[in-house]
Parts: sequence; C-alpha cells; structure tokens
Amino acid sequence: MPAQSGEPLVVVDHVNKHFGELHVLKDITTTIHRGEVVVVIGPSGSGKSTLCRAINRLETIDDGTITIDGKLLPEEGSGLAKLRADVGMVFQSFNLFAHKTILENVTLGPRRVRKISKAEADKHAMELLDRVGIANQASKMPAQLSGGQQQRVAIARSLAMDPKIILLDEPTSALDPEMINEVLDVMVQLAKDGMTMLVVSHEMGFARKAADRVLFMADGEIVEEAEPEQFFTNPQSPRAQDFLSKILTH
Ligand SMILES: Nc1ncnc2c1ncn2[C@@H]1O[C@H](COP(=O)(O)OP(=O)(O)OP(=O)(O)O)[C@@H](O)[C@H]1O
Ligand SMILES: [Mg+2]
Repeated sequence: MPAQSGEPLVVVDHVNKHFGELHVLKDITTTIHRGEVVVVIGPSGSGKSTLCRAINRLETIDDGTITIDGKLLPEEGSGLAKLRADVGMVFQSFNLFAHKTILENVTLGPRRVRKISKAEADKHAMELLDRVGIANQASKMPAQLSGGQQQRVAIARSLAMDPKIILLDEPTSALDPEMINEVLDVMVQLAKDGMTMLVVSHEMGFARKAADRVLFMADGEIVEEAEPEQFFTNPQSPRAQDFLSKILTH
C-alpha cells in the first residue's frame, strides 16, 4: 500500500526510561503522523534529547513500545541498521566527518547502507546540496564552512538516506544568530515538502511557521500538546506558562 499522508508513522506507547535513579521519560505516549511536523520544547533536562535518541534507538527504553511505520524498534543487528537508515538524525553539533569533503559526507551513508553506485550517489548528493543552498561548497572540507553551512550539510546528509522521518535536536542552538535563519529556512522548506519531522527547538518563529503540533515536556513528562498558535498564546498548564514567560523575556 502506498504511503498515506496522515497515517501513524512513529507510535510511542507508554515509554519509560531511567538513568539509574533518575526517571527521565515518564509514561510517554504520542503518535507522529506521516507528513507531520512536531516541535518539542521544554526546560533543560526535561528529556527532549532522550526522547529523540530513544526513537532512533541510540538509547534503550525500560518499558513501553516504539514502532516506526508499523514495525517495533529492533534490539540490534541488520534490522537496527535498516531502522537507522529510515530515521534521520541531525544534532546540535553537526557531527560531520572532518577528513571527508562535503560531497563525501553526504554520499557515504547511501553508498555503504543503501549500496548505491558512486555516480548515482554523487548525483543525488549534488541535488540535495543544491536544495539546502550549498552545492558550490561540495568539494570543500567541513572546517572551511560556516556553522550554518555545516548544519545544512548535516541536513542534506540525513536526507540522502531517504529517511521516513528526520529528528532534529536543537539544530540551530550552536549557531551564531546570523546563521540561524538560513538553517530554519531549509527546515521550513522541508516541512512544506511534506517531510515528517520531530524538531527539538525553542525557535518560536519556526514552530509557528512550520509545526503542526507543539509537545511541551517538563520533568520527563509530556505536560501539554497543542497547535503552535494555541500553545504560544494560550498555554494551559502552569509549567508551560512559567516556561514561556521565561523564554519570551529574552
Ligand atoms: N547518558 C546519561 N546518563 C545519565 N543521565 C543522563 C544521560 N543522558 C541524559 N541524562 C539525564 O537525563 C535527563 C534528561 O536529559 P536530556 O538530555 O534528555 O534533556 P533535554 O531536555 O534534552 O535537555 P537540554 O535542553 O539541556 O538539551 C537529564 O537530567 C540528564 O542529566
Ligand atoms: Mg537536549
């Protein structure tokens, strides 16, 4: 059956996670639908990164289930490699390979995991670099690019695997202010193109422009879930009100 926009893609069901004594994900239940853009916000330490990492199986969970496109997250082995290819991840710190060119950074995954020829991988990578506005940087090394350009390479790299969803964990928080918008613009365009995205970000402008839903986390729980306009103008829970009053005064 062809993929339908709006059908469940990631289903997180009663998930708990501890680090030792610390209960970092508390009975998390949420569904991300195909084509949906979900923005996760909340105070430091509330479990936002852990949730992303659990969905990509970079962290194990204690109980509950996570399914991606109807399949339970595999524990290990080739199933896990396949899942990782389906779930793109973009981190705050880019994590590009320093000794490989921009083009090689983007083609490495598809060539290794998807077994695509060099010519085909190069062609697709150049299209993606063009889409994020840096095709002219393809032969450079990561250190020769600005932070905003490097983050756009990281986005192109994750798109190159043709993922079903991309998780972006604070993709702009390490960037100088003048570079934030160039990365947000790329993310807005991806959202418009129908990419399913889970984005940890406090960029309210992005959330208002691109998000279908805001998930507010505090202390390991999903405290509030709402459309961005409703969340930012009329938060329901005292914790969300308090959090927004703090970020809005900055
Ligand atoms: N590998 C780990 N070992 C032990 N504790 C951890 C580990 N990773 C995260 N934690 C703890 O789990 C809690 C949730 O961390 P997490 O990184 O998910 O928060 P966050 O919401 O992403 O915060 P931030 O906004 O600062 O990125 C924090 O108390 C953190 O210290
Ligand atoms: Mg985090």
